[in-house]
Amino acid sequence: MIKFEASSALSFISDEELDRSMEHAKKAFQQVIDRTGQGSEWLGWRRILSEPNDAELDRISGHAEKIRQDADIFIVCGIGGSFTGAKAIIDALVPAFSDNGPEILYAGHHMGGRYLEGLLNYLKQPKEDGTTKSVYLNVISKSGSTLETALAFRMIRGWMHEAYGDEAGKRIIATTGPDGGVLNEIIEEKGYSKYVIPEDVGGRFSVLTPVGLLPVAVAGIDIQTLFYGAVSEFEESEKDPQKVLKYAAMRYKLHVEGYDLDVIGSFEPELMGLAAWTQQLLGESEGKEGKGLFPAIAGYSTDLHSIGQMIQQGQRNLIETMFVLEKSISPLTVNEQDSETDQLGYLTGKSFHEINRSALNGTIQAHVEGGVPVFKIVIEKLNAQQLGRFIYFYELMTAVYVYMLGVNPFNQPGVENYKKAMYRLLGKEN
Ligand code: PA5
Repeated sequence: MIKFEASSALSFISDEELDRSMEHAKKAFQQVIDRTGQGSEWLGWRRILSEPNDAELDRISGHAEKIRQDADIFIVCGIGGSFTGAKAIIDALVPAFSDNGPEILYAGHHMGGRYLEGLLNYLKQPKEDGTTKSVYLNVISKSGSTLETALAFRMIRGWMHEAYGDEAGKRIIATTGPDGGVLNEIIEEKGYSKYVIPEDVGGRFSVLTPVGLLPVAVAGIDIQTLFYGAVSEFEESEKDPQKVLKYAAMRYKLHVEGYDLDVIGSFEPELMGLAAWTQQLLGESEGKEGKGLFPAIAGYSTDLHSIGQMIQQGQRNLIETMFVLEKSISPLTVNEQDSETDQLGYLTGKSFHEINRSALNGTIQAHVEGGVPVFKIVIEKLNAQQLGRFIYFYELMTAVYVYMLGVNPFNQPGVENYKKAMYRLLGKEN
């Protein structure tokens, strides 16, 4: 169950204002349902949940299992919506420092030469027994032409063809649009296996397609449970969209009243990938025509020691969204010591979950007193089912809220501007 808790934001909006905003949100929700809003040809993220493709889920799970048995390293090569979702789920569900299954590495999400050079050197280093590492590469690009991804793909696949010869083709998997684009030409030329990103699903809404599902399955996460978690949230919110409407209505109202920033954060480091995914989902969807709350992200309690001051007493133009885990994910408690010189004896026996929870509640209290409306998004348990629910909850809320702003949630025309300038500087023709 995903809960939307607004009690720490309610005092910033009157009941009448909220009622009016709710009416507006209902109309926007209806536009999603009736497919009458802008960009309605991009509502495939709903279609895939209304008609689950079990055969594809099985194909991905089966393929991922084979990769898990053979791979030392699995590289996810993509940017934006083509990697953020997979990373978010893997970061949330695969415990840090665990070595169960292949090491998941990322590439193609920036153009830093040192990183790519270091990655290639790491791949080339033989294992302790002197044999070559078993590397698999999943290139993910709907357009098939995004420069960051295409460049990293070119460099890594070049090494893979050298290292594995004819066998390289079996280790390279491409996830891309149904047809067209350079990547489809490469797939045809080299015979790589391919997963299709449906035409009607845009990048940042594509985590529940092979874009996110293959990497997540290779990381050992049950994608059927993840996917059907999203299906449950989809079905429930079709019948009762109240929490989505309330969230969209309040976010909208605060924005039009002059709030400019949404600081999305969590006291659980495991949820920071989800914050990054949400940042991209909201940012690329709402930031158009001079509108939108700028989605910033903050990891707590780390960032209380940096931007915490700004949130508490800086310009009063921000709201905060806290991702909260209801159930503890670690039994760790503060140990006893033979000396109490560190003056931490008052915490002996307390769990880290409890301490972190007090930090969360204290922070919310202080921020609200400082004039910051705070929303809580509560995830009951950290598991694949709940994350599936979380993903659909946010996708739907984003669509409803952005329709309320009167803009198209599903395009990103502004992203082209930097590309044009960059390609001109790089001397690309056409
Ligand atoms: O949401 C989006 O559409 C973007 O963030 C894209 O996912 C991102 O630009 C990567 O594009 P592509 O998958 O075509 O390489």
